[in-house]
Amino acid sequence: MEDCCRGSLLSLLPSLFLLLQLFLTPMSVSTEEFVVIGPSDPIVAMLGGDITLPCRVSPAMNVENMELRWFRSKFSEAVFIYQNQQEQREEQLAQYTGRTSLVKDFLIQGEAAVRIHNVQAFDNGLYTCFFRKGSFYEEASLELRVAGVGSGPQVHIQGPEEDGVRVVCMASGWFPKPQVQWRALSGEKFLTFSETHAQDPEGLFSVEAALVVRDSSSGNVTCSVLNPILGQKKGMAIFIPEPFFPQTSPWKPAFLVILTVLTLLLLGAAFYIKREHTTKCREMQEWEKLHREKEEDQQTKKEALKGRGKAGQRPRQARVAAAWRKARLYAGLASLATLSAVSVTLDPESAHPRLAVYDENTSVTWKDMTEGMEEETCSVLGHDGITSGCCYWEVEIRNGGKSDWVLGVCRGDVERKGWYVELPKKGFWVVGKYDDKFCALLETEVSLGKVPHRVGVFLDLKEGDVSFYNMADGSHMFSFSLASSSGTLFPYFRLKPGDVSLTICSVLGGPVETPVPLNNSPSLEELVSLSGQGFSSGSGVDAALPGAEAPLLLCSPEALSP
Ligand SMILES: *[C@@H]1O[C@H](CO)[C@@H](O)[C@H](O)[C@H]1NC(C)=O
Ligand SMILES: *[C@@H]1O[C@H](CO)[C@@H](O)[C@H](O)[C@H]1NC(C)=O
Repeated sequence: MEDCCRGSLLSLLPSLFLLLQLFLTPMSVSTEEFVVIGPSDPIVAMLGGDITLPCRVSPAMNVENMELRWFRSKFSEAVFIYQNQQEQREEQLAQYTGRTSLVKDFLIQGEAAVRIHNVQAFDNGLYTCFFRKGSFYEEASLELRVAGVGSGPQVHIQGPEEDGVRVVCMASGWFPKPQVQWRALSGEKFLTFSETHAQDPEGLFSVEAALVVRDSSSGNVTCSVLNPILGQKKGMAIFIPEPFFPQTSPWKPAFLVILTVLTLLLLGAAFYIKREHTTKCREMQEWEKLHREKEEDQQTKKEALKGRGKAGQRPRQARVAAAWRKARLYAGLASLATLSAVSVTLDPESAHPRLAVYDENTSVTWKDMTEGMEEETCSVLGHDGITSGCCYWEVEIRNGGKSDWVLGVCRGDVERKGWYVELPKKGFWVVGKYDDKFCALLETEVSLGKVPHRVGVFLDLKEGDVSFYNMADGSHMFSFSLASSSGTLFPYFRLKPGDVSLTICSVLGGPVETPVPLNNSPSLEELVSLSGQGFSSGSGVDAALPGAEAPLLLCSPEALSP
């Protein structure tokens, strides 16, 4: 500033020097020194109003003839110039043209002030007042603060957002930059909201502040815009009706959290249990299935016994199913090498003299056709006694419809001389044809329907029962419960005079050897696990299952030929 002063002064130097010579020398006026004093505090001016920027010299002296100048940051940015007792307009900044005047009332007392009319935002800032008398000059700084209160805020609901309602507050025409506050009805301040400011060409500020109200109990929400210089504020309240809020109860988030945690826990538990269970299940599955089948089978037998011939009334499907279970058991057994050699043969020594045992001890028929022997019961036993385990054989009955016959098992110690009855209490568990009826022999005869052509006998000493199957269709016909003290059992066959013959069918493909009862045979369960197939469907066991038309066992060729 001083540089530029000096610059301009330098150009004037020669003329000034002459002037000084002219004035000072004859009048012998001594140069007086002074200081310029401005207001110590900033001057606040209202937008659009008038303001004076006063300065004075000290000691007080007449400043009418001094050069007085108010400028902004640079000497050249003149706001007002007073020289030679006149206002000079050449150097004045365009923004102040027509808006400035000098307050001349106290020039004699050393006080000068510039009045600015219609204060603008532009007028805000620092000023310097400059006083010069001759070659001596002094200056002082002063600050003008412009303040303007703009429009009152306008608040409106913009819409739902996230978990609340977005409200926006707008105000304009403020100077300087206003402060915005959001308050709830309770007076509590909202601390977080977004705020944007803009300045118009005249330098005035507009503000836009957005708030998301999450608590529907906030009631009225107030937006206040504050002028920080004046401390003046304008506000507006808005009432946000309940329906504007998203329908969220405070319990909902808590509930969701609890639900999520519970779900995770349940899933975890379920996964753990399932994994534990799966391994156990796999181990137990075969056992369980086996057990179930056995139980069902026992049930079948019980019902058969209870029903005493009502078997015919049972649904055919159930009977077939039960029978096939046993048949499958046996098929599983038969597939094992240990059983392939098993066959039942007749013991000719045990045969009644009137019976003929033939065809390698597998068939029996009536030999002596002479009359008068009807009073005797003529029977033959299997070669080997059975003491434990399971044993199965099939018997083909030829001309079975014409004369009576009986087959089954009997105790080894039964009396077979003369005439005797074949009842369980006497040690006989048999089915057969009596007087044109096919029946099981209990205390009373239990009719079993049509006379079969092929009967399967399944002796299970482990379970203590003997079951009879009609091998034409695989259906279960009858089961006896054996007395626990049955002792050794033998296959039993009995004929009455006639064409009838009974033939034991040989084991499939196996050689007909000495009959071997399944004395030390492994238990069913062991056999099943040995075979590695269990009862699972689609296994080799099923594949080897004979159909109803395909009997398990082959009868000897001679027996099959008529
Ligand atoms: C809430 O504001 C509305 C105007 O938006 C006003 O009419 C009402 O009286 C106010 N309620 C309270 C409790 O301040
Ligand atoms: C039939 O049984 C008799 C007497 O037990 C025996 O001597 C004979 O070898 C047996 N025949 C066959 C083929 O097994």
